[in-house]
Amino acid sequence: MFEEKDTIHIFPYPVWLFNVEADRADRLNQKAHASIEKMRKAEPSGIPGSHWQSPNDLQDNDDFADLVTTIRDATKEIFSELHIATDKFLVTGMWINLRPPGTQHPAHTHPNNYLSGTYYVTAPSGGDAIVFRDPRPETNIISPQFSEQNELNTREIMVPVKPGAMVMFPSWLPHFVPPNQGDTDRISISFNVMFESYGETISRPKWTFGQSTDDRS
Ligand SMILES: [Fe+2]
Repeated sequence: MFEEKDTIHIFPYPVWLFNVEADRADRLNQKAHASIEKMRKAEPSGIPGSHWQSPNDLQDNDDFADLVTTIRDATKEIFSELHIATDKFLVTGMWINLRPPGTQHPAHTHPNNYLSGTYYVTAPSGGDAIVFRDPRPETNIISPQFSEQNELNTREIMVPVKPGAMVMFPSWLPHFVPPNQGDTDRISISFNVMFESYGETISRPKWTFGQSTDDRS
């Protein structure tokens, strides 16, 4: 009946998965554990058993310099893949999330940044996933029964993670962390990346006055 059939995926959402080399990940994780112990003594959780979050400027803390380098290397690879014609960017925020068994993190985005991500120091079995949610509300106006779920018929996609993994994604892409059903703490370090001179350069019109163009955005 058909000479051929193809399915093209238009406007795909990218999520990048990096696995840091084992030696490097070991060093990053040892430093993170030592630093967490130090910080938690200074600023303990308000409620025992509840989640703990570090200050959000760890990108300026020497203990995390190697992680910043790792994030910068990953960002350069993403910029290259997206053909972004600037190499000037900042890690604008970085913080630790320590989530004991039973705790979760509701759906959210990371405003005012271009890329966001999370590096995993620990990811206990049962607490080893991040879930991305389709930001198009119209996609489930009609939602039939599906015999099988795949990326074309689901609104949420769970991405498994492990210690030493780093997940990066567009900052506008909603995501959440399901309850930690493991027996130990889940420790992750989240961060944001933004262009260094967004207002000064990137926000300026891309078209030149007086020249004919269809791209007057
Ligand atoms: Fe997040």
